[in-house]
Amino acid sequence: MSQGTTAAQRFYGRWARLYDLLASATPGLARLRDVAVDRLELSPGDTVVEMGCGTGANFPHLRERVGPAGRVVGVDFTAGMLAQARDRVEREGWRNVHLVRADAAAFEPRERVDAVLATFVVGMLDDPGAAVNQWADAVRPGGNVALLDAGQSGRPYAWPVNQAFRGLVLASTPGGRSGFEEPPWAVLDDRVAAARRALSERSVAVADSEHVLGVVRITGGRLP
Ligand SMILES: C[S@@+](CC[C@H](N)C(=O)[O-])C[C@H]1O[C@@H](n2cnc3c(N)ncnc32)[C@H](O)[C@@H]1O
Repeated sequence: MSQGTTAAQRFYGRWARLYDLLASATPGLARLRDVAVDRLELSPGDTVVEMGCGTGANFPHLRERVGPAGRVVGVDFTAGMLAQARDRVEREGWRNVHLVRADAAAFEPRERVDAVLATFVVGMLDDPGAAVNQWADAVRPGGNVALLDAGQSGRPYAWPVNQAFRGLVLASTPGGRSGFEEPPWAVLDDRVAAARRALSERSVAVADSEHVLGVVRITGGRLP
């Protein structure tokens, strides 16, 4: 794993509780999570892997779709985030949610799964295109991969929105500006674009949408 990986684990380990609060209670976020999960076209009994699951804010949305006969597998490399996710799973008594501590960029499930979800994750990966290709390889033919990410808005009135966004990115980037040749928001935009491009190239059908003044993008791809 790279140096950045270690910084990310330290950062998210330290802020896991606060992150959980924000991830679960930010107004409007649950609706966006629902849109992303809809793109997976899940059915009862399906198995879905969430890469970089964090504290498990997507689990209720995923469980609702796969039902009690389905399985949700959450993968994350930060122990503190997984501890919060484990608390959530135990509190709710969910028996079909399994947690794995692993590098999502290299994770290969034992068998092909029905779908893969990654929300607010690809911007943290050194090679998001390669990761998305790996995730697509893990999904059965006809299954789906969905990505939800934030980035700078391309809308005409975007200047003030993007200033606010940049501040948020700086505050939430492990290590701040250090270690990046470009500003972190530009790195984030490039990585999200690379991930979406890789998903589009692998997919036979793509559903793409922008939300929150163009700051949030949700891309779902159905594999051949
Ligand atoms: C911004 S949080 C998003 C958490 C969750 N997906 C959500 O929507 O609330 C990013 C998460 O990705 C995890 N992460 C980042 N890179 C990872 C990697 N290479 N392997 C596993 N987890 C990773 C971090 O530990 C963190 O929990």
